[in-house]
Amino acid sequence: MKKIFLPFCFTIFVSVISLNATAQKKTIDQRVDSVLKLMTLDEKVGQLNQYSSKEELTGPAGENSNIAQEIKAGKVGSMLNVRGADRTRRMQVLAMQARLKIPLIFGQDVIHGYKVTFPIPLAEVASWDLGTIEQGSRIAAIETAASGVHWTFAPMVDIARDPRWGRVMEGAGEDPYLGSLVAKARVKGFQGKGLGNLDAIMACAKHFAAYGAAIGGRDYNSVDMSERTLWEVYLPPFRAAAEAGAATFMNSFNDLNGIPATGNAYLQRNILKGKWKFPGFVVSDWGSIGEMVPHGFVKDKKDAAESAIKAGSDMDMESRSYTAHLAQLVKEGKVPVALVDDAVKRILRKKFELGLFDDPYRFSNAQRETDQVGIPQHREVAKDMARKSIVLLKNEKGVLPLSKNTKTIAVIGPLAKSEDDMLGFWSVGWPDNSDVVSQWEGIQNKVGNTAKLLYAKGCDVSDTSRAGFAEAITAAQNADVVIVSVGERRDMSGEAKSRSDIHLPGVQEELLQALQATGKPVVVLINAGRPLVFNWTADNMPAILYTWWLGSEAGNAIADVLFGDYNPAGKLPMTFPRTEGQIPIYYNYYNTGRPAPDDDNPARYRSGYIDLQKSPRFAFGYGLSYTTFTYSDLQLNKTAMNASDSIVVSFKLTNSGKVAGEEVVQLYLRDEVATLVRPVKELKDFTKLLLQPGETKTVRFVIKKDKLSFYNNQLQWMAEPGAFDLMIGSSSSDIRLKSKFELK
Ligand code: GLC
Repeated sequence: MKKIFLPFCFTIFVSVISLNATAQKKTIDQRVDSVLKLMTLDEKVGQLNQYSSKEELTGPAGENSNIAQEIKAGKVGSMLNVRGADRTRRMQVLAMQARLKIPLIFGQDVIHGYKVTFPIPLAEVASWDLGTIEQGSRIAAIETAASGVHWTFAPMVDIARDPRWGRVMEGAGEDPYLGSLVAKARVKGFQGKGLGNLDAIMACAKHFAAYGAAIGGRDYNSVDMSERTLWEVYLPPFRAAAEAGAATFMNSFNDLNGIPATGNAYLQRNILKGKWKFPGFVVSDWGSIGEMVPHGFVKDKKDAAESAIKAGSDMDMESRSYTAHLAQLVKEGKVPVALVDDAVKRILRKKFELGLFDDPYRFSNAQRETDQVGIPQHREVAKDMARKSIVLLKNEKGVLPLSKNTKTIAVIGPLAKSEDDMLGFWSVGWPDNSDVVSQWEGIQNKVGNTAKLLYAKGCDVSDTSRAGFAEAITAAQNADVVIVSVGERRDMSGEAKSRSDIHLPGVQEELLQALQATGKPVVVLINAGRPLVFNWTADNMPAILYTWWLGSEAGNAIADVLFGDYNPAGKLPMTFPRTEGQIPIYYNYYNTGRPAPDDDNPARYRSGYIDLQKSPRFAFGYGLSYTTFTYSDLQLNKTAMNASDSIVVSFKLTNSGKVAGEEVVQLYLRDEVATLVRPVKELKDFTKLLLQPGETKTVRFVIKKDKLSFYNNQLQWMAEPGAFDLMIGSSSSDIRLKSKFELK
């Protein structure tokens, strides 16, 4: 082979770069080691200790501590719920008075926006628009970093199949494939071009792991599942977050198969830090180390500290177990100092990567805070995200979109004028939410003086008074069209907000019945942080929009959809049950040996209910548009592939309606026969495309072995030869094209 002689200087140049890069890499590792060598055992333990500010508690208040004194004594490594350039600077000044001047890191739950609030995460996922989801996290990071905060406790990536669990609102729904892509998008959004950039913050994949499978949907409850299910359903989004470079993980409150996640070495050391080689650090959830005592897993907080550090929990959020007992455990020889050193190094490495050792105050810049936080450009992106998150559940008799010539519009309901509720749970607290656009304001902004607006509250969200019905009925009778905004209050979903009854609360459905009786066209807006049950409404109301909690620009986004300035394209990221009795219900179920009959033939001796249809109220992936789409001409470039091969799938999508619109086309596969039963369908790809009226586009998916794989009983990720069903759908229950192929 011909030898290529590079100019001598080039090889020197390359080697200098590589040396420099190595030196650069080693610089942080070396700098970490150099600080570690100086630290006393108490100072090391201090780095593993995290307190919340007292002003913004996001968990049960801990014992009183003199936080300022402890920071100055080097006993605190991180604070949460401290934000703002000035406040973080003042807190950092205290840390600079400690012997080694190790900077604090500040963390905050920036779950869906900092000052400009985006739709709740579950709503964002309904957009199936990974680019906009990433952009929303990017903006949240810019505003958070400009406020002196280095770290968000997000993304929450818990797969959830039980809408009684209030925290479904902060995740990505029920599907591992979609949830993994969203996890990656959010980590990339938060961390941007990498830590050290002034607009990049540390992401935190949480809650590790399987918190969304809490029995009965009861928050903090036990989780019991096979390892296989853990790997196949609940771990994929965490793995995606780790692969995307998430700087930190947060463990979960639940016990998993009898071992609390905080003390679960299988999760944190074997999987996360072992198999996945995770270089970052794990923060416990609020008090979860100490909560291993009520779990009955340890007898006291000293044992809790020993169990947690050995299991790989690096930082103790608010339980005070480490600060009280870890040094003593090391002195007693019960905990090797090497474990403490490993945890300290993981934390110090992030502080170096953030540039805090070079300048502890670099994020605490009041001018940048003024320039970056809450600016109009951010609101525009939030509005775009909000519009894309809205799901059109029903639209009969052409009620929607509303005509811009409508003369009189009645806007009714307990949520129509609410600003606070539009923010949903886990919004960052501000003294004044008057900058949030309510639905009433959004409609006002849209119609201006071209229409007369009538308002009536009608009823409250959850009390049973019907006293407001008469006023609402009168408003409806005097209007050409009625818009009714119902649902939950924002504090009815979120953490510690599990509900046993997820029907529309109070007498809201009775209000809808009363308004329907006026004979006027009624549009229903349903606001919630979770799937709700509203069968009468779904059966009898002609037009329904699921508007979740859409954030700062909620009203403007909803008005754009109501009046057709934006054609809704949202698709449900979770299955909507007909009633609580159907839960858990999800689209990727196993068929069983006696599959439940279809709704219209309830045969006996089948796996179903004798008093309820098999199908959900609304399926995973469901959502309508103001236009219609036809799917045609499905082709596979071959009908058999081997493991190293691939199959190209193509089909045509046509906008068969009268207005432009976007469609999320979904690819589902089923492994017909395998050594383990496989789901009746699994989402394996999707794409969202815009089509003008009459336009046709060809869509292509490529199927490789990875899309055919699953975990076998030995937890090996593998694919088995055999036949596969291929389904192209507008939702998981609306399959438009089918085919088959074989893996040789
Ligand atoms: C809460 C939540 C967790 C949050 C943390 C800090 O209890 O479980 O998601 O990040 O405490 O607020």
